[in-house]
Amino acid sequence: MRTDTGQVFKLEDYRPSDFSIPQTGLTFRLSPDATRVTAVLTIERRDGAAASASLVLDGDGLVLKRIAIDGRELAPADYLATPDQLTILKPPARFELLLETEIAPASNEALMGLYRSSNVYCTQCEAEGFRRITYFLDRPDILSIYTVRIEARMDEAPLLLSNGNPVESGPLTDGWHYARWHDPFPKPSYLFALVAGNLGQVADSFVTMSGRKVELGIYVEPGKEGLAGYAMDALKRSMQWDEQAFGREYDLDVFNIVAVSDFNMGAMENKGLNIFNDKYVLADRETATDADFANIEAIVAHEYFHNWTGNRITCRDWFQLCLKEGLTVFRDHEFSADQRSRAVKRIAEVRTLRAHQFPEDQGPLAHPVRPRRYREINNFYTATVYEKGSEVVRMIRTILGPEAFRAGMDLYFERHDGEAATIEDFLKVFEDVSGRDLSQFALWYHQAGTPNLTVSSTHNPAAREFTLEIEQSVPPTPSESRKRLMHIPLAFGLVGAGGEPVAYGGVEGAAVEDGVIHIRKRRHMVRFSGVDERPAVSLNRGFSAPITLSVEQKADDQFFLAGHDSDAFARWQAFNTLLTDALIAAFRQILGGAKPAFSARLTGLAGKIAGDETLEPAYCALALSLPGEADIARDIGRTIDPDAIFAAREALALAIARANQDAFANIYGRLADDGRFSPDAASAGRRALRNTLLDYLSLLPGGASLAAWHFEAATNMTDRAAALTVLAHRHDGSPEAVKALAGFEARYGADPLVMDKWFQIQASVPGPKTVERVRALTGHAAFSMANPNRVRSLVGTFSSANQTGFHRADGEGYRFFAQTVLEVEKRNPQVAARLATALRSWRSLEPGRQAKAREALLAIAGAENLSADLRDIVERTLA
Ligand code: PHE
Ligand code: ZN
Repeated sequence: MRTDTGQVFKLEDYRPSDFSIPQTGLTFRLSPDATRVTAVLTIERRDGAAASASLVLDGDGLVLKRIAIDGRELAPADYLATPDQLTILKPPARFELLLETEIAPASNEALMGLYRSSNVYCTQCEAEGFRRITYFLDRPDILSIYTVRIEARMDEAPLLLSNGNPVESGPLTDGWHYARWHDPFPKPSYLFALVAGNLGQVADSFVTMSGRKVELGIYVEPGKEGLAGYAMDALKRSMQWDEQAFGREYDLDVFNIVAVSDFNMGAMENKGLNIFNDKYVLADRETATDADFANIEAIVAHEYFHNWTGNRITCRDWFQLCLKEGLTVFRDHEFSADQRSRAVKRIAEVRTLRAHQFPEDQGPLAHPVRPRRYREINNFYTATVYEKGSEVVRMIRTILGPEAFRAGMDLYFERHDGEAATIEDFLKVFEDVSGRDLSQFALWYHQAGTPNLTVSSTHNPAAREFTLEIEQSVPPTPSESRKRLMHIPLAFGLVGAGGEPVAYGGVEGAAVEDGVIHIRKRRHMVRFSGVDERPAVSLNRGFSAPITLSVEQKADDQFFLAGHDSDAFARWQAFNTLLTDALIAAFRQILGGAKPAFSARLTGLAGKIAGDETLEPAYCALALSLPGEADIARDIGRTIDPDAIFAAREALALAIARANQDAFANIYGRLADDGRFSPDAASAGRRALRNTLLDYLSLLPGGASLAAWHFEAATNMTDRAAALTVLAHRHDGSPEAVKALAGFEARYGADPLVMDKWFQIQASVPGPKTVERVRALTGHAAFSMANPNRVRSLVGTFSSANQTGFHRADGEGYRFFAQTVLEVEKRNPQVAARLATALRSWRSLEPGRQAKAREALLAIAGAENLSADLRDIVERTLA
């Protein structure tokens, strides 16, 4: 583990390396405790670099066994080797450097570099893991052509994979064998990958648009081949979609995906050899939920799309991370929207953005989409870089229109193929194809914080004029107290009494194009002329900008839009706003000692939406699932009491259930499972609505037995897990819940990915008793502190998705959390640092909890030998 050096990396310090590495040859002689790595690097001093420049290579915990230049062993005076750095003094202008290092994959629990996962050798090099394999210029602007030779014992590792195309393979003496791979595309070291082990294969092929045949392979634990079919299907659809939507063709003879069970993140886009967390590959109806299927489809697509946005064009430095990630998320969002329902997908995206990115942007860990400084780059794989980064690309398309956007993307691929590029390069292609000035827009990359628009409207019937008064503000964020004014593309509609769009004569006060108001100044008075009747205003349609809105809007208008807005997103938003307003009012009533009450108009609208057959079931399910406790907390903003929020939410759920008892029961019955199964969006949508209704019905008399019946009768994991959640969360301790939890455990005890659901469901049981339960479950046979998926399912769910449990008033949740974070950190600093972000909004808690949360953060900060990863998060959180 790398200890913290306290070093801060700054964007403005970027300068190209003095040396390049055009060729990289690697030979691995694999063994669990002593793998020999021989690197042969062709190194050239760059034009313009000083002849006296020494070569400084990155390392991380390495042991150097041999070093030679052009076949000659180096004398000790010629170089300086520490575990973390290799300096070669006065190297020649062009030479071949031979390095031998020895590493121990079996004891690599940080899961960075070369490690073993269930006896499979695999690698993870992004962002800075390659330096744990050999000394290298481990930075993304060093592009090299790799040739890799892998040697392993035949019985231990019959399968040997690396990037690019297979060249040759064959037996060696003593039961060993080898394979050689060559990747013709120059790539940065973070895209290097190797896999060796005994794995089962699913094979298929794809013919590209120019008629080249590509061999596709998905490798899984032997015996699990039957669970990879959906991932393979998603891969082929992704390959085809990228040809159609972006004109991008695959470029190697093979494309391989390997599923491993110990992985820090979701998946990794290594050139031609994607490595996946097995949770995002393995699925069938028996073990995976519809959400799992959707995630698999999206992540397979995401990693595949990186082949062009990330690999063919990579990042100049890690400050440019959003260049590949935001853009690739945008591409996978578009893919899923085309494969599924665009409206439903958009609502789900926005819910995710608000749940993960908004709190980040509004708390101590806020940073721009393109950060200017970091201490530990691992901590910048964030919702801001990924999700907000995607929203920024979406806004570029909104501003330019789809044709110019596509032309800009084409130019990007043409101009920068084979390069390590920057955000400036990216913006420039869109300026060049459109002739627009995007300099104000560029602030979306450079400035942190969620902009807010305050909007009010007036109608003057005599003048036939409708006016929107719009004011923008960007709240201060850490180290950025003064914000500049942004360019915000605000999609809108004026809606008439019958739901029709209201025509207007002219507009003044802002540029308005294609239903989008371009906000560029602090304040705009946008005047629409020729408007006879006061329209309802539908704002930020399709969520055209990642902002918050404070709209002075009559409840009547909000109800009207929730029933009639022609923009599905805005319609969902209107209803969601009504629910949020009602929940916040209830929260205040509860704090004031009153019993919350809800209008029949609101609960009645929920019933109408559920029964509206013109709406997609998946849309109805999203509309009816109440804003989460954390969403409500975020919207309240300060002196949060999670128990009062929980009580408010429960009260509204009960009011909706009571008001719609018969209607919900009818629809629930109509959606009955016919035993057939397809993971497609329409079928998943019906299951989602039925399970949402079950959640409501379970609050009424007989609810526990209904849920128990639903659980027993389930023919797929979506329904089974939904029923188990309802039993554990709504009827905790009931005989039905106890029986179902035990039944689930008995049935799936040997399947770690399914047991993750069992851990998650229990970790999110609301209330003060859950912390003890979670602590006890850390001792369960299926749990392991060394496996990131287990840790995230149990501890991550508890700390980030259980508001009443984690924020227990006496601080016991925080104490358990601090202790566990430190325990995880000993093995895996990256996973620990991510866990630790659960306290990022601690300052918005009420004073009692705030003090206890702070104590927990200080306990972490005070621990000895803290890793750079965890120290960075904890110190920024406390700052
Ligand atoms: N680059 C990966 C992705 O977004 C994420 C990742 C980052 C994986 C760092 C591992 C380590 O697809
Ligand atoms: Zn990515």
